Amino acid sequence: MRLVLIGPPGAGKGTQAGVLMKDLGLIHVSTGDMLRESIKKGTALGLKAKEYMDQGSLVPDQLVIALVKERLERPDAAKGFILDGFPRTPEQAESLGSTLQAMGMPLDVVLYFKTSIQVITRRLSGRRICGQCGKNYHVTNFPPKKTGICDVCGSTLVQRPDDREETIAHRMEVYEKQTAPLIDHYCRTGLLAEVSGDLEVADLNKVLMELFKKRGFDVVLTSTS
Ligand code: AP5
Repeated sequence: MRLVLIGPPGAGKGTQAGVLMKDLGLIHVSTGDMLRESIKKGTALGLKAKEYMDQGSLVPDQLVIALVKERLERPDAAKGFILDGFPRTPEQAESLGSTLQAMGMPLDVVLYFKTSIQVITRRLSGRRICGQCGKNYHVTNFPPKKTGICDVCGSTLVQRPDDREETIAHRMEVYEKQTAPLIDHYCRTGLLAEVSGDLEVADLNKVLMELFKKRGFDVVLTSTS
């Protein structure tokens, strides 16, 4: 299956993608994670991306498009993928369409996580990530076993620089202006499916599994957890 997840910051795209990739055996392509990894490694791309990301603005299209194209051309993408946080502009959507057409791998579904502002605010202000391995937590929804410490690698949890209150407001404006128009675009192509991002992770996952079945996908779970 080839999926795109669209939704405002904090809609739970990354969290749900983590469940779906395990359940369905798909690769998870998160441009946010890829860019944060480049920043951590101090690559030229990371240095350029950091100034945009810290302010909550979008990284220039050509940088992100190249990153995604390279990832989708790797052999494991042929088994199916979840694009999380890409495309985010009309130019990115157009590029994705032509790349996938050339590869003979059209999109199956674009999932729009419609999410209320109250939920977004609560999720982003409570999100903590591991500074080392990147694992995602929430201070109340998904707390670590030991406060402030990653369950997986024992490193310190930090707040993402773009989760500060003033930056969240800017990210929401950027989303409304540059990304929300893609919802209409994918609605016109018949690929869009709207779901509630306000749901708890397991409830949303059930809704998605039903939706995939209704659309004729043979959902075979690859994980029993
Ligand atoms: P990116 O990392 O993609 O950020 P985003 O789209 O703003 O999304 P978030 O990661 O904030 O939220 P999410 O929906 O994944 O929610 P999550 O699952 O973490 O992008 C960051 C930046 O990179 C951009 O601003 C831009 O600068 C750059 N960038 C990335 N892609 C780009 C592109 N294509 N073009 C240009 N620039 C790009 O959940 C949030 C919190 O809520 C977590 O704490 C989680 O534990 C909790 N939670 C999640 N789901 C639930 C649930 N169902 N119930 C209860 N709690 C939940």
